Amino acid sequence: MKHHILVTGGTGYIGSHTAVELIEEGFRVTIIDDLSNSEIGVLEGIEAITGVRPEFEKMNICDQEKLFSMLREKQDFDAIIHFAAHKSVPESVQQPLKYYRNNLTSLMNLLAGMEKHRIPCIVFSSSCTVYGQPDVLPVTEKSPIQPAASPYGNTKRIAEEIISDSVVASSFIKGISLRYFNPIGAHQSALIGELPLGVPDNLVPYITQTGIGIRPLLRVFGNDYNTPDGTPIRDYLHVVDLARAHVMAIDRLLNDRQKKRYEVFNLGIGKGVSVLEMIQSFERVSGQKLNHEIHDRRPGDIEKIWADTSYANTELGWRAERSIDDAVLSAWNWEQYYRKHISGRS
Ligand code: UFG
Repeated sequence: MKHHILVTGGTGYIGSHTAVELIEEGFRVTIIDDLSNSEIGVLEGIEAITGVRPEFEKMNICDQEKLFSMLREKQDFDAIIHFAAHKSVPESVQQPLKYYRNNLTSLMNLLAGMEKHRIPCIVFSSSCTVYGQPDVLPVTEKSPIQPAASPYGNTKRIAEEIISDSVVASSFIKGISLRYFNPIGAHQSALIGELPLGVPDNLVPYITQTGIGIRPLLRVFGNDYNTPDGTPIRDYLHVVDLARAHVMAIDRLLNDRQKKRYEVFNLGIGKGVSVLEMIQSFERVSGQKLNHEIHDRRPGDIEKIWADTSYANTELGWRAERSIDDAVLSAWNWEQYYRKHISGRS
């Protein structure tokens, strides 16, 4: 019988790509999402790629009663992948309670539901934000956790602790937190991808929206950092590689291969890329120049970070396979497809 996976936030960016990989690996997928930052039409994209329309419930998991009644009805989840969360760093600074209330209540409801309905496995969507600006690069999972630079980042740190404590207290719950570096790109079909609401905060959607003419120019936030070209460095990884890591984490939990009942993995390509290098990648794959200019630094940005992914390589058997150019090209293909065929459909 197929393992049944509950994917919260499954119509979102990383959730939808993970749903595709899970279905293609033979899992049964149920998505819950409140559609506050995603479109229902994403289900059509998933169906067009996989031939399967995932089961779907519109729900905010902060509503414990609704969540519990759904878990009671379905009865048969083997694992949960928890993506659903607010994710804007600047918004979290302005509205911290919105972030603490939503991101932490939803997780606590899920963990309580897992205990009540004996769902044994959780994979949690964490972030490299927990490392702040590390002193030593690349960062391993043992690198020190720094005080969070934003309420959003703090919800990720606190959430990891809540899961770790819940695993200790439970006789059967096991968990894995995946610390993503900077996910970019889209499915190779261009049928699903990132859908930022309004003006994007993140670099790659801003680049592709500038490339297609929705934004007049990309502002490069600072070229006076202590890096080879002066612009900040991140570890950008293809969202499909990231999605595959979730399938491997689920597999590890379901087949009892963990070293400990709660584990943490860094997920990146293990290489730092600067903002100017990302612009060059876009220009290479799109064959067009990108209008950009240098601006002041963006408050709260760190200078450089990239991952040591050896733990994920050896223990999960995962490795990022796609290059930066592949990822940027897929984001560009998605931007063009979305504007032509999907924008305004729902
Ligand atoms: N950048 C620009 N111009 C833009 C947008 C971004 O120059 O218009 C630069 C930023 O200054 C930064 C780099 O591109 O140097 C990457 O910025 P992103 O906003 O794409 O990503 P961040 O590294 O700031 O943020 C990511 C995740 C967050 C997470 C954070 C942790 O998106 O969820 O890492 O550091 F919290």
